[in-house]
Amino acid sequence: MPEVNTDKIFAAFLLRLEEVAQIEDFDDIEKEFLGKNSLLSEERKSLSSLNEVSRKKYGKLLQDLSNNIISKLDEEKTKFKSKFFIQRELNDKKDISIDWYKNLGSKNHVLTNVMNEVVDIFAAIGYTVATGPEAETSWHNFDALNTPDWHPARYESDTLYLDNKLEKLLRTQTSTVQVRHMQNNKPPVYIVAPGRVYRSDQLDATHSPVFHQIEGLAVDENLTFSDLKGTLEYFVKEFFGKDLKTKFIPHFFPFTEPSAEVLVSWKDGEWLEILGCGMVDPNVFKHVGYDTDSQGFAFGVGVERLAMIRYGIDHIKNFYENDLRFLRQF
Ligand code: DAH
Repeated sequence: MPEVNTDKIFAAFLLRLEEVAQIEDFDDIEKEFLGKNSLLSEERKSLSSLNEVSRKKYGKLLQDLSNNIISKLDEEKTKFKSKFFIQRELNDKKDISIDWYKNLGSKNHVLTNVMNEVVDIFAAIGYTVATGPEAETSWHNFDALNTPDWHPARYESDTLYLDNKLEKLLRTQTSTVQVRHMQNNKPPVYIVAPGRVYRSDQLDATHSPVFHQIEGLAVDENLTFSDLKGTLEYFVKEFFGKDLKTKFIPHFFPFTEPSAEVLVSWKDGEWLEILGCGMVDPNVFKHVGYDTDSQGFAFGVGVERLAMIRYGIDHIKNFYENDLRFLRQF
């Protein structure tokens, strides 16, 4: 007993006070330093074994320690409470209505950025931007693109029609802009047309009923399939870097002959189609009023797929759910 160091206990008590984060912490500290199992209580119990002089001396020391702890605890508790109430009052006074005019750091959607980037890549080699309506005529979407009424490709493509006569629809491809542009402009033509397209497709990892494409069209003297291949290889390398593996495979599109698809290597060695392309079919030239021996190539790129491959996104729905945790990463 005689060697009990009340200063040390008080110092330990002060240290504990510094850790207080909430009002309940004061009760814990009180229990720890003044409660039944505290060091102070233990020391008090052993007072009875001392002689009277020592008992008085140490009894007083312990009593002083206890008083000091109680008053300091009181003082700190009051301080803590007033700080807490002031803060609560300040919070209550805050205007929690939304300030619609405050700029919360808005930025472009990842798909907008990807489209802008693709446009820039083609602008660097002389292409300009063309646009067209999303609500289209069947003629622009199909007939002019060498896909007449009887053509099976017309029914394979899952179209959202806007009337019962099947004359108006939500465009299924940005290829419609080729038609509109050629109707109004003479060659040479070098355009890209970014935009939204619609299909009555089931949502799965790589398909959505609404998605984005960028159409490209070049019509000029002596353009060949080599020019098409060179242009698309330039694009893919600019967008993905030089190391990504790509392959051209033959395909069919009614509006190009010959036609091809470009695939790039995706997760686990799988190939994903990112664009369709080919030499413009003479029938398309005929429909838009060009000479049928004009020379040109066209392509259509899937924007979501470009973003999925570049950023390793495994489901297309992420683009449309507007989850800020997803969108803020880009
Ligand atoms: N329109 C096609 C599609 O949506 C993509 C496409 C293929 C566009 C070949 C083209 C082309 O211009 O030449 O699947």
